[in-house]
Amino acid sequence: MSRRRILATNALFYANGPLHLGHMIEAIQSDVWTRFQKLCGHECHYIGGEDAHGTPVMLRARAEGVEAEELIERMGASHRADLEAFHVHFDNYYTTHSPENREYAEAIYRALDAAGHIERRSVKQAYDEEAGMFLPDRFVKGECPNCGTPDQYGDACENCGATYTPADLGNAVSVVSGTRPVLRESEHFFFRLSNFEAQLREWVGGGHVQSAIANKLKEWFEAGLRDWDISRDEPYFGFEIPGAPGKYFYVWLDAPIGYMASFRDYCNRNVGLEFDEFWDRERAAEAGTELNHFIGKDIAYFHTLFWPAMLMGSGHRTPDGVYAHGYLTMNGKKMSKSRGTFITARSWLEFLDAEYLRYYFAAKLGRGVEDIDLNLDDFLARVNSDLVGKYVNIASRSAGFLHKYFDSELAAVEKPLFDGEAVGTEVAALYEKRGFSAAMIRIMELADEINAWWNDKSPWVLARKGKTKSGGKLHRYCSTAVDAFRQLTILLKPVLPETAQRVEAFLDVEPFTWDDLGKPLPAGHRINRYEHLMRRVEPEAVTGLLEASRATRPAQESAPAGKSAAESNKETNMDPIADEITIDDFAKIDLRVARIAVAEHVEGADKLLRLELDLGGETRQVFAGIKAAYDPDTLVGKQVVMVANLKPRKMRFGLSEGMVLAAGPGGKDIFVIAPDDGAEPGMKVK
Ligand code: MSP
Ligand code: ZN
Repeated sequence: MSRRRILATNALFYANGPLHLGHMIEAIQSDVWTRFQKLCGHECHYIGGEDAHGTPVMLRARAEGVEAEELIERMGASHRADLEAFHVHFDNYYTTHSPENREYAEAIYRALDAAGHIERRSVKQAYDEEAGMFLPDRFVKGECPNCGTPDQYGDACENCGATYTPADLGNAVSVVSGTRPVLRESEHFFFRLSNFEAQLREWVGGGHVQSAIANKLKEWFEAGLRDWDISRDEPYFGFEIPGAPGKYFYVWLDAPIGYMASFRDYCNRNVGLEFDEFWDRERAAEAGTELNHFIGKDIAYFHTLFWPAMLMGSGHRTPDGVYAHGYLTMNGKKMSKSRGTFITARSWLEFLDAEYLRYYFAAKLGRGVEDIDLNLDDFLARVNSDLVGKYVNIASRSAGFLHKYFDSELAAVEKPLFDGEAVGTEVAALYEKRGFSAAMIRIMELADEINAWWNDKSPWVLARKGKTKSGGKLHRYCSTAVDAFRQLTILLKPVLPETAQRVEAFLDVEPFTWDDLGKPLPAGHRINRYEHLMRRVEPEAVTGLLEASRATRPAQESAPAGKSAAESNKETNMDPIADEITIDDFAKIDLRVARIAVAEHVEGADKLLRLELDLGGETRQVFAGIKAAYDPDTLVGKQVVMVANLKPRKMRFGLSEGMVLAAGPGGKDIFVIAPDDGAEPGMKVK
């Protein structure tokens, strides 16, 4: 097998909100794929970063009273931390707000302009006179011109599906200032996509996209390719267009160029890596390098039309593969804040292990663009049965005997339970084509076979009868099982990198490569003591996650932004009032005054503080999501109101035995409810 040279990218995350589990589908998919390539010994560069520009970022920064640079810095840091915690290991993680990106964006624009692909045209657009800015379609709301439903965005109606322009809305208002927008004329720059139709059709015909996307593209071609508006007027957070003061590149122009910028930054720090071998049309063809993009289906248009056309028009190579995945649904429905199924990456980590999610998504991800459902009951059953019940079980069953009777030394393998090399080829083909779900099924079949074989041999009977001769049957069975476990670990390593690392330590071997399949460890090799590899998922952790996701309000985390505007714009400062309860319901809640005896940061938790609450005779530990609002030192000694009879919840960091009452929209603006002087710890609040 010759060594391939691969550049793979993940879509660049918008810098205006935290990562959620939908984002993690993609990050996990691309991370698994690139880890797999590396494990096979290929040269693979895995590139990602922040998509920093655009109106939503600008407005959110304004709302927070900070510079856009400060906001994107903070978001970038939070995204990086989340990605790392999920073991998503980018070789380079950069930002579109960088000198490299400006350089490439300008160069590509100039090349397109020089070749006659840019056209200037005057357009009328909604303008907010109070805010002094042009409004993107999604920043205008009003009544649908078709069905009259109020509160619809300026581009499409959520009720009847009609599409239109903001000018068509009845009683339109600007989302920014609440005033009525006017139409104003301005010169815009357009990229003439239709100039590339023949080339694009050929590229699409070359098998670089999935069949569902190819079909969609056929529709788009038939409808006729429209010119693309690539400029925005100031004020705008982005790059000014060279030679056009006050005009900025639309965020989607410089966003994919950000892949180049991230790779350039990487090359700058890696001597010997040649940027042009991966991006220049001729050099890339000579070098035989590959370019692969992982994206969500919602951004296919950008990656299969605009982006290849920009590359074609500027002397660059085109992608070999654009791989779109579906959208995340939770229990069959769209993620929803009110149902508590809008789950951020951070809150997942507060309750559950990252590798559980990696495995579950891998078990669901196929080659297509179908949506991926996270059903939490199924998740719990699946992880517990596959990973704990089948996979880890093999090691825990066999290692004990090896330690007890054979001084942790392996004997020769009895007979391999499967042909490791053949299985390796088979599973590799699945990983390569992103058929992760099929790969997981195959691996768990093997695990079933191994467990069945073990039960059939019943080695524990030999142990009970004292047949524990070194090199004898018991010894060989255990060594065989350990070897089978070793091979399963290699097959799972792209998905479970952390577990694989622990297994490497347990078996005392060098980091696994794909090549190690089918090559058992020699007799006499000594392994280390078996330590617990993976805990079962507790149902309480899942319930806790849902409760916490319902309780936290990520509204202030996401200013209006492209498609996510639909989610976030609906949020007002006020939560809807919950369903009515009776006085009896209320009486069930035992509210008490508590004194904060200890308050401290929790290692690895972004939002939580650990509190010890004195209830006048009893102390409770509570994890409260108030870190952004309070310095722990200022809390000690303060009296607060707590729910004293809340069922304890097991969180990732420990047991939380109650809840502290607080008010406010969240983030920095959370105020714990502190009774006046005269209250005593333990006192009932009515
Ligand atoms: N900034 C653009 C991408 C620019 S790439 C040059 C963007 N950012 S995003 O943060 O909104 O999304 C990043 C990736 O996550 C996209 O590929 C998007 O499809 C994916 N997802 C965002 N929400 C998702 C779900 N709910 N489910 C699955 N994937 C989702 O788009
Ligand atoms: Zn309508």
